[in-house]
Amino acid sequence: MRVHARVLVLFVHPALQKSRVNRRLAAAAREVDGITFHDLYEAYPDLHVDVAREQALLAAHDVVVLQYPFYWYSGPALLKEWLDVVLEYGFAYGEGGDRLRGKGLLAAISTGGGAHAYSRAGHNHFTMRELLAPMEQTALLCGMRWLDPFVVHGTVHLTDETALAAHATAYAELLASLRDGRPPVSA
Ligand SMILES: Cc1cc2nc3c(=O)[nH]c(=O)nc-3n(C[C@H](O)[C@H](O)[C@H](O)COP(=O)(O)O)c2cc1C
Repeated sequence: MRVHARVLVLFVHPALQKSRVNRRLAAAAREVDGITFHDLYEAYPDLHVDVAREQALLAAHDVVVLQYPFYWYSGPALLKEWLDVVLEYGFAYGEGGDRLRGKGLLAAISTGGGAHAYSRAGHNHFTMRELLAPMEQTALLCGMRWLDPFVVHGTVHLTDETALAAHATAYAELLASLRDGRPPVSA
């Protein structure tokens, strides 16, 4: 297999045993050949991130996928901790901080709220694009390419096994597309 881009999936879910959606997506991701899957809560249950290890992993990949459930219009606590300590001055930005330049960043997110909720008329008022602005700007500051997010909406009502399986398949196909340098198939 010829790998066009080395894809790193950083999986961030604090309660995998309670997860229905991300557990399925993560299982599908783990099956994709030639990508690296890294479970941050498994690696750092005490939230003590190994900065050198994480930076080495980033340096060794071309596309970084951050997979997490949407919590308070953001992500779980370890995601923030990871961003705070890993994206150091001199590594990710600032003088000499060019190690992430040119790499892709893709957010793979599940939300309890349905798609309509994430619109002006919906009860969350803002679009996903707007709510993800801090993440997008983080990528841009680091010279990364912001890729279209993969979003599974409406997880509260997502109980149907067939629908869950379809999301997992779509996610695995997206990861394979990134790996192969094929334009992602739009949903
Ligand atoms: C602490 C917490 C905060 C949450 N905040 C949001 C939110 O801001 N917007 C939203 O749509 N869903 C929110 N949810 C719902 C989760 O996004 C949803 O449970 C998750 O995507 C389901 O994925 P899982 O089955 O892998 O856990 C929240 C859930 C928790 C536990």
